[in-house]
Amino acid sequence: MIAPETTTRPALALPQIQALASVDMAAVDALIRDRLASDVVLINQIADHIVSAGGKRLRPMLVVLAGRASGAVSPEHHQLAAIIEFIHTSTLLHDDVVDESDLRRGRSTANALWGNAPSVLVGDFLYSRSFQLMVELDRMEVMRILADTTNRIAEGEVLQLLHVHNPDTDEAAYLRVIERKTAVLFAAGTQLGALASGADVIAQQKLYDYGMNLGYAFQIADDVLDYTADAADLGKNLGDDLAEGKATLPLIHAIAHSDAATRARLREIVENGEGQAMPEVLTAIKATGGLEYSQRRAAEYAEAAEKALDGLIENDALSALRGLARYAVARKH
Ligand code: IPE
Ligand code: IPE
Ligand code: MG
Ligand code: MG
Repeated sequence: MIAPETTTRPALALPQIQALASVDMAAVDALIRDRLASDVVLINQIADHIVSAGGKRLRPMLVVLAGRASGAVSPEHHQLAAIIEFIHTSTLLHDDVVDESDLRRGRSTANALWGNAPSVLVGDFLYSRSFQLMVELDRMEVMRILADTTNRIAEGEVLQLLHVHNPDTDEAAYLRVIERKTAVLFAAGTQLGALASGADVIAQQKLYDYGMNLGYAFQIADDVLDYTADAADLGKNLGDDLAEGKATLPLIHAIAHSDAATRARLREIVENGEGQAMPEVLTAIKATGGLEYSQRRAAEYAEAAEKALDGLIENDALSALRGLARYAVARKH
């Protein structure tokens, strides 16, 4: 018998990762399109508008790769991947209403085109469609994980709302929000990928920990991009967080490390949600090293994600997961 490989293989780059997952992702995409349908025309229009714009499809890719890292990939993985992407898409429809955002995936948002009420209701449609897909799998463990996850996401969104316009939001509070609103869905995706491949509980836990840490890294990077990206690359408007009065890590760091006068001004900007104060805020963030600090924190979570994979059997999919941890913090969109 050949002993399983134990030395760590190098992380893969994004094109290699995409190539590795491409056959499965085509199946996931077909399933997403197929299961989007409704005989209510407005649902099809809005759902198609956001889904056909693409998006990175990172979460379903994580399900597939966690599955491959743990064994064989089956149609159950494709269904789980579609479920996770439906949940994600539903949260985006809701999030753009809450954040009053008008650009998403390089297109006008559904709320900008059709209004808030249709966006929220179609978000609910996608959400409940994901539950129909779950029931088809007929596995109580899967339903438990996803019911818990969606409940935590909803808590995260409400918790975030409570911090809007609050200049006392500190890093610990910020981390509590991003765990729920973002990281738990990543963790559920990678855990479910492993579960569906028949991985034991130890391997499932490792992939869950990987997903959780990756989710933190991904959201911190997203919050940096809201200050630094090119809007055309990002496909979203910059400065949405500030305009909404949402203090994310770069600004939290600046508030904590500025002189008293700057701090008072930054607090006022958060309280009032002064989006037009962006140049002033960026100056303060840069002066306190808030971007580098946030990138460092994101990199620490990405490293913890990679570390969580130690001890699993080395294969291409595991190297791809390592690569995605690096991509999450190096990306431009
Ligand atoms: C956006 O997620 C919401 C966050 C958690 C930051 P993505 O950046 O994965 O969005 P899409 O699916 O690629 O559009
Ligand atoms: C992500 O937060 C919210 C969700 C998990 C849906 P953001 O508000 O930062 O996401 P974007 O930047 O609008 O994609
Ligand atoms: Mg938003
Ligand atoms: Mg954002």
